[in-house]
Amino acid sequence: MDVNEIFINSKYELNQQIKHKIMKITVVGAGAVGATCADNIARRELAEELVLLDIKEGFAEGKAIDMMQTAALLGFDTKVTGVTNDYSKTAGSTVAVITSGLPRKPGMTREELIGINAGIVKGVAENILKFSPEAIIIVISNPMDTMTYLALKSLGIPKHRIIGMGGTLDSARFKYYLSVALQCNPNDLQGFVIGGHGDTTMIPLTRYATYQSLPVSELLDQATLDKVAADTMVGGATLTGLLGTSAWYAPGAAGAALVESIVRNEKKLFTCCVALDGEYGQTDICLGVPVIIGSDGWESIIDYKLNEQEQAAFNKSADAVRNMNSVLTEMKLI
Ligand SMILES: NC(=O)c1ccc[n+]([C@@H]2O[C@H](COP(=O)([O-])OP(=O)(O)OC[C@H]3O[C@@H](n4cnc5c(N)ncnc54)[C@H](O)[C@@H]3O)[C@@H](O)[C@H]2O)c1
Repeated sequence: MDVNEIFINSKYELNQQIKHKIMKITVVGAGAVGATCADNIARRELAEELVLLDIKEGFAEGKAIDMMQTAALLGFDTKVTGVTNDYSKTAGSTVAVITSGLPRKPGMTREELIGINAGIVKGVAENILKFSPEAIIIVISNPMDTMTYLALKSLGIPKHRIIGMGGTLDSARFKYYLSVALQCNPNDLQGFVIGGHGDTTMIPLTRYATYQSLPVSELLDQATLDKVAADTMVGGATLTGLLGTSAWYAPGAAGAALVESIVRNEKKLFTCCVALDGEYGQTDICLGVPVIIGSDGWESIIDYKLNEQEQAAFNKSADAVRNMNSVLTEMKLI
């Protein structure tokens, strides 16, 4: 191969020529969250090829070309391909992120989205697995806890390959509100939000939150801590009110953070919605708990010992999510 040939071939094409197995990631839904997630994945070069798929004719193609036109400015070499509903182009994906569906409108609960998004998520996941039978599925579409349970019940793949993204975002929002209260760098904070991904079902674990190992309860008074927790719980709705639709920067970044931990086998701890088999006192449900994310998907659940009040809140959250899951049975989706 002469120098000219090397110049005209991207790393992607060279890898194809030498039959190197391409690390491919698919993001379904090229809307606000999907495109932001894809952009984060491309910028961080988490894959050699990123396929962005949408049902809207030309939409994913347009977003992909726009992203590729940032490559020469940002210096990444992930190849971003946009496709309209052509799942054959997603074949061989290691991870598929599902963001397709309707976003929440002002005043609309995530629960109201269930009827529409359940059909979309089920169809999309089945199509993904047809072409990438080993893919790890990250579910972002709302109501996320129920959509993750739908994936678990209907796809017939090992539970460790089904990850719902909600707590990762809610925990980032928790750290944001804590950082405002403490006037500190959010990166110096540790804190988790467990339970459901709903305004009333999530549980910011204030008792375990720390600022560089120092419990935040030693730095903030109870009223401030309560306000931080309350602001976190309505964090999504606050942005929906301001933006007129649900947020995308942090949700997209949260999805990409999970992808990164999988493809780089980082084994980082995130709160994710996963199938519980007795952990945290719950079974036959997908709910947000701290998990290790690595190349096998979610690899283990970390058991934070909950006090009586936290466990009661977790059980209440499970009841609400279970109630929503029952709609899937009524709709004969599982
Ligand atoms: N889990 C979370 O933390 C979290 C956070 C934010 C948003 N969300 C949810 O993510 C979803 C996407 O939000 P958004 O703001 O990106 O919405 P959006 O409307 O901007 O994008 C959704 C995209 O999905 C596409 N789509 C619809 N049906 C499809 C199908 N069958 N196949 C392929 N693509 C299809 C649409 O054409 C659209 O481009 C919503 O359900 C929203 O509620 C979840």
